Amino acid sequence: MLGCSSQRGGSCYLGWLLTLTLTLPLATRGARPKLLLLSFDGFRWDYVDRVPTPNFHALMEEGSIVEQVENTYITKTFPDHYTLVTGLHAETHGIVGNEMYDPDLNASFSMETHSAYEPRWWAGAEPLWVTNQKQGGRSGGVMWPGSDVEIGGAYPSRYLPYNASLSFERRVETMVAWLMGERPGEGVRSVQGGVDFGVLYWEEPDESGHNLGPENPLMDAVIADIDDKLGFLRNELRKMGLYLLPIVNLIVTSDHGMTQLSKDKVIELDQYLDRDLYTWVDKSPVVGILPRDGKLEEVYSALVEANPNMVVYRREQIPERLHYRHNNRIMPIIIEAKEGWTITQNRTTGPHMLGNHGYDNTLPSMHPVLVARGPAFRQDYVKSSMRSVDLYPLMCHILSVRPRPNNGSLARVMDLLSEPSPPTHSTPLEGRYQPSFATALGVVLGVVMVTVFLVVIVKQMTLRQLPSRQSEMAQPLLLEELQL
Ligand SMILES: *[C@@H]1O[C@H](CO)[C@@H](O)[C@H](O)[C@H]1NC(C)=O
Ligand SMILES: *[C@@H]1O[C@H](CO)[C@@H](O)[C@H](O)[C@H]1NC(C)=O
Ligand SMILES: *[C@@H]1O[C@H](CO)[C@@H](O)[C@H](O)[C@H]1NC(C)=O
Ligand SMILES: *[C@@H]1O[C@H](CO)[C@@H](O)[C@H](O)[C@H]1NC(C)=O
Ligand SMILES: [Zn+2]
Repeated sequence: MLGCSSQRGGSCYLGWLLTLTLTLPLATRGARPKLLLLSFDGFRWDYVDRVPTPNFHALMEEGSIVEQVENTYITKTFPDHYTLVTGLHAETHGIVGNEMYDPDLNASFSMETHSAYEPRWWAGAEPLWVTNQKQGGRSGGVMWPGSDVEIGGAYPSRYLPYNASLSFERRVETMVAWLMGERPGEGVRSVQGGVDFGVLYWEEPDESGHNLGPENPLMDAVIADIDDKLGFLRNELRKMGLYLLPIVNLIVTSDHGMTQLSKDKVIELDQYLDRDLYTWVDKSPVVGILPRDGKLEEVYSALVEANPNMVVYRREQIPERLHYRHNNRIMPIIIEAKEGWTITQNRTTGPHMLGNHGYDNTLPSMHPVLVARGPAFRQDYVKSSMRSVDLYPLMCHILSVRPRPNNGSLARVMDLLSEPSPPTHSTPLEGRYQPSFATALGVVLGVVMVTVFLVVIVKQMTLRQLPSRQSEMAQPLLLEELQL
């Protein structure tokens, strides 16, 4: 086979087998690691123990779980998702709420309108998908907040515009194809050429958590369904040979938890304050109040002692530990409801939710799940706590990306790694940040050439007569084998 003389076929085949055995691990070692970050919106940390969740539990055994992840204030979808990919508190990355008003821009942001696609709102930070690309990587975004917005002049290398109707399964299939490096229409696949950092978002169990309330027994089925969805992802990765590939890592997490509300725990602002005196920007449970010009004192004194189930801050009084002060998009007055309480203007106009989040980020009910598996992570490891800002330096480390300035600390989460001491690839050498396909190909071809050379020498010594096609015969097989 492959140009070996037929009576020499056996030893020749062994030679190639040896070559492959040597080069495949080298090729994946030289290859850029891959990382998929998946968020199930509103998946509270303790949901994994509420009903059987075999897929979550399999990930825990194969990898690590963090029991308490302290997310960032306010514990809402847009702020916390941006924190996960920037390592910055909301006051620094600038996405301080799901609804915002920027007095400098005289403009409003709402996740429900086109404003959410305006780059200016996101420009306070550079998300990891952009940084990864600037350093030679390829990123993919499926519905992650901000991943379909041009930030710092760039979109992810591959992304889908937000579409709530797109099923989880379609989202996963899309992402897995990107990881595989599928180039549509060409039928060409190369893991080396695929996306190496992917972010994927799913709206549940947040939506059901709001509608049903987390204590509702109907939530059991919702949580079981999320576990099935995780199972679907695991199967897709397995089917494509990615699951056990020694370069593929998976982090499954969320932005926040969920707490039970009650009809009896409602605060009506209309009881204390004339609506003409203010605009309310972000809504319950942390309300941003923008008083009309010259009305700041009047509004503040009307609210400060008004109701024992809420705390009223002037912006400059917001506790330092919340890291929620130094940004003009944070309103001059903030009202925070106590856990389980809802702030409204008039209870008859709603909202009529049974579950909510946004409260103090030290409350366990606000904490998201976090499990991680793959070659980068320790197996069967339980870590008691971390902060969500620490995930960013950890992901940068895994991807060998130089982190941007951030509020996290790799040291605080180093114990999650299978190689806690910085492996050589974390050294910020120039070459590490070049696309590593060329490097891997170089390694493969180098080893092939040396092996061919050795085979030639051996044959020369034993046969003295040589077939003359060694170098051409070598490459197609190896390249085929590597297009996983
Ligand atoms: C802010 O924008 C609104 C319209 O959105 C406009 O009525 C108002 O005059 C603007 N304020 C300033 C200070 O430009
Ligand atoms: C959103 O996804 C649904 C389901 O795949 C599809 O039917 C619809 O056309 C998509 N909408 C847009 C705007 O692409
Ligand atoms: C809320 O609205 C209802 C119906 O319009 C009204 O009767 C009630 O007085 C309002 N409550 C407050 C606190 O303004
Ligand atoms: C968070 O990090 C940014 C960037 O380094 C820095 O400007 C900011 O002061 C930090 N915030 C805190 C609370 O340390
Ligand atoms: Zn929500």
